[in-house]
Amino acid sequence: MCGIIGYVGSQETDVTSILLDALAKLEYRGYDSAGIAVLNPAGTIELHRQAGKITNLVATVENGTRPGNSTLGIGHTRWATHGRPNESNAHPHPDCTNGIIVVHNGIIENYAELRYELQQDGHSFNSETDSEVLAHLIEHAYYGSAEHDLVLAVRTALQRVTGSYSIGVLSREHPDLLVGARCAGPLIVGLGENEQFLASDIPALLTHTRRILILEEGEIAVLRPTGVQLMTLYGTPIEREPQIIDWDAEAAEKGGYPHFVIKEINEQPDALRRALTGRIRDGQLHLPEMERIEHAGLLNGIQRIIVVACGTSYHVGMLAKYAIEKWARIPVEAITAAEFRYSDPIVGPETLCIAITQSGETADTLVGIRQAREHGAPVIAITNIVSSAITRLADAVLYLQAGPEIGVVATKSFVSSVAVLYLLGLYLGQERGRINPEQMQEFLEALEILPEQIQQILDHANSEHDTIEPLARRMADLKSIMFIGRGVGYPTALEGALKLKEISYIHAEGFPAGELKHGSIALLDPETPLVGIATASHVYEKVLSNIQEVRARDAHVIVVATAGDERIKQHANDIMYVPATLEMFSPLLASVPLQLFAYHVAVARNCNVDQPRNLAKSVTVE
Ligand code: F6R
Repeated sequence: MCGIIGYVGSQETDVTSILLDALAKLEYRGYDSAGIAVLNPAGTIELHRQAGKITNLVATVENGTRPGNSTLGIGHTRWATHGRPNESNAHPHPDCTNGIIVVHNGIIENYAELRYELQQDGHSFNSETDSEVLAHLIEHAYYGSAEHDLVLAVRTALQRVTGSYSIGVLSREHPDLLVGARCAGPLIVGLGENEQFLASDIPALLTHTRRILILEEGEIAVLRPTGVQLMTLYGTPIEREPQIIDWDAEAAEKGGYPHFVIKEINEQPDALRRALTGRIRDGQLHLPEMERIEHAGLLNGIQRIIVVACGTSYHVGMLAKYAIEKWARIPVEAITAAEFRYSDPIVGPETLCIAITQSGETADTLVGIRQAREHGAPVIAITNIVSSAITRLADAVLYLQAGPEIGVVATKSFVSSVAVLYLLGLYLGQERGRINPEQMQEFLEALEILPEQIQQILDHANSEHDTIEPLARRMADLKSIMFIGRGVGYPTALEGALKLKEISYIHAEGFPAGELKHGSIALLDPETPLVGIATASHVYEKVLSNIQEVRARDAHVIVVATAGDERIKQHANDIMYVPATLEMFSPLLASVPLQLFAYHVAVARNCNVDQPRNLAKSVTVE
């Protein structure tokens, strides 16, 4: 997830300031590096790039040769996916493409093949990024025809690309033309008077215009000072009326949502799609990172796996235990990092250590993993942050590709981590010969429809039929609440309880459903509701009996159940339905209404949902 901005106008103006101001408003989309390219009146491109935040770029521009007034420019703020977050991988790339400059947000899945092909044709590359491939591909099409038609070149190039992208493209030969294109990444056009804008998101444009065109998948926008034309990749014109945006700037940054947390909950279908992007292709699983570690022979003697993580990531680790043991039949232990590091753990080259940390900086996880490495254990890191500290301790890194998560509590990073761990489990199962091609196909098909299923939950919750917010309002004065589940429903219950307690400050605890009667059931009274995870599973009947035990003590029972389950109605006071999926994947759906429930309870209690008290996004102390 990166941010892009573009400007084209009829009068020479301070394009540099327009780009830098807009990038500052897009910084929430990524802050690994930033850059701008401005066409000066002499027809040369002036480029400034810098690793780190926009303030670094601003300092570079102010301390260097600030571009003069111009009519055309593009800018980018990067959230690294391919290539380290340094200056040489920052966008826009230096002009190694004969004056064709591109900014890109997304992932080009077939970049390795395209890069190889372009290199054979004599193109040389300056960076490690997939995005630079796009610039060369467009250059190739542009100079390949005598017309030097930039729009046609962009369309031709994009027809070769698989993956996701929003792009902005300019050419030094066309000072009055900016081209944008979108496929699975956000891109909007802002309409002005003799000037037009391209951006990843609305906040970047609000100081200039409130007339916005939102691009749909597979659309191209051709921006000239006098107007904007939309078309398909194949050149068919598209008519669309602009929308008038009446949000204030702060609301716009949150995409019109009142808080980042609810925005990020609603981004989960996209985050999940990105986690799967490039990893499921043509009905097959691809984890090139794992292939490399296999080739190095590091997994040859593996007899067990230890998953080390904290908080929500630990719950992901618990789910990984169920999945990997089931699919690969390798014994797995999930342990919280703070315990692991002082436990004098028995690890060596026969123990694969998996570190899960969305921030990549959690001190307990880093120290635990460092110890495991010292004992010779191979390490796989699962993280959202490219080049974060954990990546330097790992033999292989699987990135979440979830984009920045601003809300302190983990929501979309949870869903993405579970998906990536499941892909890893399926990979290990396949490698161990425990999953045959038909089973693999069934798993991958079920995974691929999960983003759409999450969307269904969200659409319902965002509609007039929503029952979660009214329930949350009724529960806002609670003192205590319990969550229970069995199998993969147990970590789901723990995660539901953690979400609720950390943002609403209500005491909430999760238990294995069968364990309740061994003591904790004493806590139940009519004022203590219970949330049961009762989605379809091989332990469904057992969960029902545990729920009955609770109901017999007059507790208010809320359940998360599978759509179509009528029977559950006799056992529950309130039901949150989720679509049907394979049992192992059910936490990816069941956790969504629990996040929404926690969010609405916290809002009803006037809590600071984006920055709950006493918490930090990266816990870099022991
Ligand atoms: C819960 C939450 C925390 C983190 C934990 C680990 O919503 O955000 O429990 O999951 O601090 O953080 P990472 O994954 O960055 O290591």
